[in-house]
Amino acid sequence: MKKILVIGIGAGNPEYITVQAVKALNRVDVFFLMDKGVSKEKLNHLRREICKRYITDRNYRIVEATTPERQGEGLGYLKAVDNLNAEKQHVFERLIAEELDDGDCGAFLVWGDPSLYDSTIRILNAIIKAGQHVIEYEVIPGITSVQALTAQHKVPLNNIGHSVEITTGRRLARGFPDNVDSLVVMLDAENAYKALADQAVEIFWGAYLGTPDEILISGKLSEVADEIERVRNAAREANGWIMDTYLLKRGVQDESE
Ligand SMILES: C[S@@+](CC[C@H](N)C(=O)[O-])C[C@H]1O[C@@H](n2cnc3c(N)ncnc32)[C@H](O)[C@@H]1O
Repeated sequence: MKKILVIGIGAGNPEYITVQAVKALNRVDVFFLMDKGVSKEKLNHLRREICKRYITDRNYRIVEATTPERQGEGLGYLKAVDNLNAEKQHVFERLIAEELDDGDCGAFLVWGDPSLYDSTIRILNAIIKAGQHVIEYEVIPGITSVQALTAQHKVPLNNIGHSVEITTGRRLARGFPDNVDSLVVMLDAENAYKALADQAVEIFWGAYLGTPDEILISGKLSEVADEIERVRNAAREANGWIMDTYLLKRGVQDESE
């Protein structure tokens, strides 16, 4: 049986790694690095750094695979993601077949936590369902970018007794959802927060969280939206890519709840 570990490595700081993840790293024969695009170099640098720092007395190999980019926007977002995951599944299957012997342990080092906007678990389940490869896998949780954001801003995620929603910039473009006062926005390529700048909303924004390039801005959205856009554009220009997340809060918290 081939074993796969899906290890959450935290969202940027090598010290976000858990003790459980360190123990898991020390069981691995082959690490598969799967990032893509312009951010690939930096993100994989952190993965290599984590292996160097935390793996003691064990030989391991690192295999970098070119992972496909999402295409076919004309198909609609969900269909395009489905197609992408099917292509990724082929890459995973090839890696498992060619790089792991029976009894070996392979690992995917997932940015942040594998449960949040990441398809590694979905793809492994599809591989098992397809039945061509006999594998078993374990998931080791990591610190998400949401946790990194709230820690750096020293802000609780939820208002007392209230719900939290996590969404994408694409969905925020349709408006602030009803019945929620705390909203986390990820994967926002288009500055979707700007459309809410006339509303009574507070924003806690963070880019490159946990890394030496980290940037934090918070305040009333009406007052800081332009600054965030300016800083964000400049950072993207300087680094060639950006990775940012923000928490929006609206309404007055009832402290008596
Ligand atoms: C594909 S999702 C992966 C999320 C990841 N699994 C997690 O647990 O945070 C990528 C998005 O996560 C957010 N993100 C990840 N790392 C970040 C960081 N260090 N700083 C700010 N945002 C980050 C950004 O919104 C980015 O577009």
